[in-house]
Amino acid sequence: EKGGYAHFMLKEIMEQPEAVRRTIQPRLADGEIVFEELEDERDLMKGISRIYLVACGSAYHVGMIGKYALERLLGIPVEACLASEFRYSAPLLGESALVIVISQSGETLDSMAALREAKRRGSKVLSIVNVMGSSIARESDHVLYTWAGPEIAVATTKAYTTQTVLLLMLGVYLARRLDRIGNGEYQEIVRELHGLHERIGMVLKNLELYQKTAARYFNHDSVFYIGRNQDYALGMEGSLKLKEISYIHSESYAAGELKHGTISLIEPGTLVVALAAYEPLVEKMRSNIVEVRSRGAEVVAMTTEETRDMIGSQASEVFVIPKIHTLLQPVLGVVPLQLFAYYIALNRGCDIDKPRNLAKSVTVE
Ligand code: F6R
Repeated sequence: EKGGYAHFMLKEIMEQPEAVRRTIQPRLADGEIVFEELEDERDLMKGISRIYLVACGSAYHVGMIGKYALERLLGIPVEACLASEFRYSAPLLGESALVIVISQSGETLDSMAALREAKRRGSKVLSIVNVMGSSIARESDHVLYTWAGPEIAVATTKAYTTQTVLLLMLGVYLARRLDRIGNGEYQEIVRELHGLHERIGMVLKNLELYQKTAARYFNHDSVFYIGRNQDYALGMEGSLKLKEISYIHSESYAAGELKHGTISLIEPGTLVVALAAYEPLVEKMRSNIVEVRSRGAEVVAMTTEETRDMIGSQASEVFVIPKIHTLLQPVLGVVPLQLFAYYIALNRGCDIDKPRNLAKSVTVE
């Protein structure tokens, strides 16, 4: 059942090229992004002045990526909200807000409750769900399914990447309809979507590097993830993956925030995972790496082929992802972080597919 892999988590990580291809492919036709699911409402954005992305855990981290991407693409305020906080705060709901709920299982109680609150207060709800016919899918006005297939490991991997790609595709599709993206950039993104699964395959080829790096650091008892913009969102996910399956204490910070307190925790030997793929801010990330290294931190970096030298020269190890449009980078960038967490947990002898105290789907508040 694990297809020859030691764990479902590893199997599901390796299934990502196929899961992503299955999610993208039915939505590309004749060089365009198409959403048949939205055929009955061709003007989804009519009268919409803000978007809330609502979810829990890893799905919330997808929402954080979406916040940066959709705000830039659509030019309206977009907020990522934790479902458990959403209904106890005062979101500006009503007809002019679009609520996008993201959930693998489609049964997470907090996300369900947020959905009901949004509908009760007159907002349209679109959901991104993996499990067909689940409660969240049934109660939403529109559903976009991720075609990740069944996810068994408690720690999500292929659901996360398919949710991310689907949300980004939706953003680009809406930007196109609203005439907010140039034809050249649009065509480039469509082209890259066609080949995205192959690029994930390329990242998966470096298993030995992730394994070797994990073997070097698995004894650390505290890890910091830093990044800026969408790389910060990625750090949130990398940090969660590590702590949930390896039980190593780990935190994620916006790199610029470090000096406002947390840098006091960096001492000789502290491990910092520095995410530096987002091109507009790579220089700034380089300074942040220099900053932590001068306090003695060990740095594992993630960057792209183009900035491999600039970032790699400052780090002890570097995970390099292939060149791709900035928008789609998180789909590649998360993969080394999943495998790094996986191999660290493996080295520590943890119960990877069923970490202590955790359930696959959380149906209590
Ligand atoms: C982490 C993880 C959880 C889920 C969260 C939401 O690896 O799996 O954080 O992402 O519980 O679950 P769904 O997506 O089913 O609503």
